Amino acid sequence: MSSPLLELDGIDVFYGPAQALEAVGLHVGPGEIVSLLGGNASGKSTTMKTILGLVRPRAGSVRLDGADITRTSTPRRIRAGIASVPEARRVFGQMTVTENLLAGAYTRHNRREIAADLDRMYAQFPRLAQRRRQAAGTLSGGEQQMLAFARALMSRPRLICMDEPTMGLSPLLVDQVLDEIVRLNAEFGVAVLMVEQQAQLALSIAHRGYVLATGRIVLSGTAADLLDDPAVQEAYLGRDGRS
Ligand SMILES: Nc1ncnc2c1ncn2[C@@H]1O[C@H](COP(=O)(O)OP(=O)(O)O)[C@@H](O)[C@H]1O
Ligand SMILES: [Mg+2]
Repeated sequence: MSSPLLELDGIDVFYGPAQALEAVGLHVGPGEIVSLLGGNASGKSTTMKTILGLVRPRAGSVRLDGADITRTSTPRRIRAGIASVPEARRVFGQMTVTENLLAGAYTRHNRREIAADLDRMYAQFPRLAQRRRQAAGTLSGGEQQMLAFARALMSRPRLICMDEPTMGLSPLLVDQVLDEIVRLNAEFGVAVLMVEQQAQLALSIAHRGYVLATGRIVLSGTAADLLDDPAVQEAYLGRDGRS
């Protein structure tokens, strides 16, 4: 078995006196789609922020390709291959589509390679190519989500972390975004760790999944196993006896 691309082990996170994560462990293999499920305030975003280096764990380790990155800065993590699509697909609204994409390459220096990747994004996302000089804030919700994906890819990641990529989108757009995630995974060979409130939808495209409840991993398994598990629904709603 190949070693995991990303590995979290024994992660404890506190906000002041309040514990948000307790002994969280998970892994993502190269090219895998892994779904992180859980109800409101279960610690999904905190887990993502810990992976990106935006939150410092009090205990535990984060490893990328076996190397300990627990204390590595966010820009260095991005250079090492981790990218993120932030909550609510935040794009720079006043900046053009092209400027947003170039911002995704801010940790890189080779201008010729960056220009080639920009062309590649426009070939992969024709709708963005048509709107390249438009301010990103004028794009539709689905187009902004696409831009957030393409911007993440501009750092040439091996892992993209997505926090609720379908939030606030219409059902039709949700389907499109999920199709897009599958396509990115196949086309760019990039592993995906995605947070999603809608378990059914997330597990329909994921290989594996984890369920968080009040800061702890309470279930994990293949997408098929989790879909079959009656406890998924329960854990999902946060009815784990602690809340
Ligand atoms: N910056 C913060 N300061 C204090 N508490 C926070 C902060 N961010 C999150 N929390 C708390 O940590 C817990 C987990 O939050 P979060 O990771 O955002 O959950 P989720 O993304 O699953 O909704 C919640 O109880 C939340 O109120
Ligand atoms: Mg969240």
